[in-house]
Amino acid sequence: MVNEIPTRFNWSGIFTESMQGAYRADGFLVIDNFASHETCDKLMNQSDALIEGFDAEAHRVAFSATGQTHAASDYFKNSATDISFFLEEEAVDETGNLLKKKQRAVNKIGHALHELDPVFSDFSYSRDIRTLARGVGLEKPSMIQSMVICKQPFIGGEVNTHQDSTFLYTEPETCVGFWIALEDATQENGCMWAAAGAHLSSLRQRFRNNGSQMEMITLSEESMPRCNTPLSAPKGTLVVLHGRLPHHSAPNRSAESRYAYAMHLVDKEANYASDNWLQRPAEFSLKHL
Ligand code: FE2
Repeated sequence: MVNEIPTRFNWSGIFTESMQGAYRADGFLVIDNFASHETCDKLMNQSDALIEGFDAEAHRVAFSATGQTHAASDYFKNSATDISFFLEEEAVDETGNLLKKKQRAVNKIGHALHELDPVFSDFSYSRDIRTLARGVGLEKPSMIQSMVICKQPFIGGEVNTHQDSTFLYTEPETCVGFWIALEDATQENGCMWAAAGAHLSSLRQRFRNNGSQMEMITLSEESMPRCNTPLSAPKGTLVVLHGRLPHHSAPNRSAESRYAYAMHLVDKEANYASDNWLQRPAEFSLKHL
């Protein structure tokens, strides 16, 4: 059964009480017209410029020289404080050669765009984002990671059902995701799906660094609910996701890409787990909005 989104909102620069009520009840908010088409185009163009500058050959050599797993894990960890490129699984062969042109091979760009890229930084530290962050209850909102998710045509990979707090754990839990459609996200090109209200259920897993490698540990055996609310989002719509809300996105088999910009915030007042995958060195300290 497919459920409708209970309420869609329209952004007017103010976080309203009805938004607060819907966020509490559903664990997500769909806010139309959060960003203008002009802003989305700017962020799209900047994404394309970053991909243009991505050296796919150097990337392939780095990965093949040191052995996939080790290099991939270091590359991933280092992406906490830089702008790295991750490729679609179906865009590379087993030796790391691109099967598509790089503009159609990048799955994701991350994870410090909001700090290092002026165009993304302007948007991420805008008044509207700050208003939203305070609205959802963050006292000292801090942006911990950001990424562009490309969902390339035909090969855009699916993202399995997960809770964002699994990856960005704080005590108490404060992780919130802001996800903005830079292009129309539809059921045809792999929009997100959520399990409305299931942010009130347990946190199932944690992805942690055990000192030698990353591992997934089980916190709760409770099964994941079905995500049966499609969060279709026209260009410029922002989706807020509670850190415990189960969500996923389907593969993109359509001929259209589905670019989105996702920001993850935590409260600076909360205790940020020292074994989260994403760690920031002291000189890259966490700013608050
Ligand atoms: Fe997520």
